[in-house]
Amino acid sequence: MLHDKVALVTGGALGIGRAAAVTLAGHGATVLVADIDAAEGEKTCALAEATGGHAEFVHCDVTDPTSVAALVGTAVERHGRLDCAVNNAGTEGVIADIVDYPIETFDRVLALNLRAVFTYLQQELAVMVPRGCGSVVNVSSIAGFAGFSAYNASKHGVVGLTRTAALEMRRQVCASTRSPPASARPRW
Ligand SMILES: NC(=O)c1ccc[n+]([C@@H]2O[C@H](COP(=O)([O-])OP(=O)(O)OC[C@H]3O[C@@H](n4cnc5c(N)ncnc54)[C@H](O)[C@@H]3O)[C@@H](O)[C@H]2O)c1
Repeated sequence: MLHDKVALVTGGALGIGRAAAVTLAGHGATVLVADIDAAEGEKTCALAEATGGHAEFVHCDVTDPTSVAALVGTAVERHGRLDCAVNNAGTEGVIADIVDYPIETFDRVLALNLRAVFTYLQQELAVMVPRGCGSVVNVSSIAGFAGFSAYNASKHGVVGLTRTAALEMRRQVCASTRSPPASARPRW
């Protein structure tokens, strides 16, 4: 079904990102698994290849806009296109009430969970829009309970950014969010 399609998955070394990468490869896509964890990223690629699909690990720190630009550039240089992106890398931060929440952690959570999504969108849409097609999935969350202020704020931001992207792209590129519930993290 996804033969000839090229997809990237950030945070693809573990958890939801790994599951997305293996599923996309299983449907025939060539998948770029982007992460800072090379060892687990290569394991994801092996799992993806076991489905009969194709996957390649690309080291990428998504909090660094240069690294994100290089990731998207790698997809285009190696495969000539980018059809699909699952913007998934994220962190919960720490559990603390707002009055006690460390500002450095707030900044780190926002950089990874929200600012990085903005930089993905810039790079991915720049490739997809000229072709007039593509699909971007930004991973948000339904989590919004006490003690997760930075996480909650960042994931609300992801929903807002995605709505804006969808409006700006109209029918050229599909931008959507997925907001999974809390789940145990299978490490495969
Ligand atoms: N697990 C849940 O219960 C749950 C629920 C709702 C939403 N989510 C969201 O789903 C996404 C994935 O969650 P998960 O539980 O699978 O996470 P996880 O912790 O299992 O995996 C996160 C991956 O992101 C990578 N990563 C971290 N920092 C990075 C960086 N700077 N650059 C590139 N990669 C980086 C990690 O190495 C790891 O492979 C997150 O955005 C999370 O907020 C998770």
